[in-house]
Amino acid sequence: TRSVVLGCGSYLPERVLTNQDLARIVDTSDEWISDRSGIKTRHIAADGEMTSDLGIAAARAALDHAGIDPQSLDFIILATSTPDNTFPSTATTIQAGLGLTHGFAFDVQAVCSGFAYALATADNFIRAGQGKRGLVIGAETFSRILDWEDRGTCVLFGDGAGAVVLEATQVQDPMRERCIIGSMLFSDGRHKDKLYVDGGPSSTQTVGHLRMQGKEVFRFAVNAISDVVERTLAAHNLRPSDIDWFVPHQANKRILDGTAKKVGIAEEKIVITLDRHGNTSAASIPLALSTAVHDGRIKRGDLVLFEAMGGGFTWGANLVRW
Ligand code: ACO
Repeated sequence: TRSVVLGCGSYLPERVLTNQDLARIVDTSDEWISDRSGIKTRHIAADGEMTSDLGIAAARAALDHAGIDPQSLDFIILATSTPDNTFPSTATTIQAGLGLTHGFAFDVQAVCSGFAYALATADNFIRAGQGKRGLVIGAETFSRILDWEDRGTCVLFGDGAGAVVLEATQVQDPMRERCIIGSMLFSDGRHKDKLYVDGGPSSTQTVGHLRMQGKEVFRFAVNAISDVVERTLAAHNLRPSDIDWFVPHQANKRILDGTAKKVGIAEEKIVITLDRHGNTSAASIPLALSTAVHDGRIKRGDLVLFEAMGGGFTWGANLVRW
């Protein structure tokens, strides 16, 4: 048994914040932000609009695309670092929002690698026979944990959500038939201080703000991402040219360019949405995926590679025959 992706969808809050808007809040410029990150605009959730609201909207879009009734779902896994509340999990709020009272729902927390972790988790549940249909969502409201006086971080992130619907399928040849072929996950907790939130229920009893040593993150990201991509290719006897589409976590254009150069991936095969979305953490892969599926770039049968790296540090990749 394997998992096939039946459909995908996304949601972005209405309000758009441009680099020019940011230049009125902190000492920065469109030129600096564009040159250093590749980001031009990002979406910001409205007052009262929560991660669960974004997640429910993306889930509905994915269910519509898949042609699936939410009542047929066995589980919901949400990747987020910006839950509505410390508990219950935001996944259970999304479950209720979709009108479901059966099955199970929980959150996965791996920051920007959250979607890669959640997709691997869901795939393992399906392979183990613990559910036939599942929803995997990445939803974030990072605008709520940014220090809007820190120009080194507040210019990089945005809010949004993306989702995929998975279904159990019997395949003979996982490399050639539509399914999730495999995933690889890594973490190394020694790097906690390079990217973290300086608050939490057990430490400070506050929500806290995102803190980052940008240069350290950058250096680690290019090496970690290149490594997991190369390992994934090697595990399946693939060359970079065998991948049809590369859907990376959208952190920074320079990280994407550096990785592509190191691994040997052609630039035109990389789906890039960070110019319009910024870094939406766990939402960025399903947002980029939905964009490229719905504009017709990613087609049935394409070989697609997701990769991500984030706080922890955590990093990982998923290989999918779309
Ligand atoms: N506007 C103008 N100037 C700025 C801004 C800003 N928004 N932010 C920082 N600067 C200034 C700094 O104060 C510094 O000034 P100084 O030289 O007078 O001290 C100067 O610009 C250079 O700052 P650096 O931090 O050295 O700039 P760098 O070239 O490293 O770029 C950046 C910073 C974009 C954060 C880069 O380090 C980076 O991309 N890091 C990766 C971080 C990342 O992508 N994180 C996302 C989360 S992790 C993930 O998703 C993988």
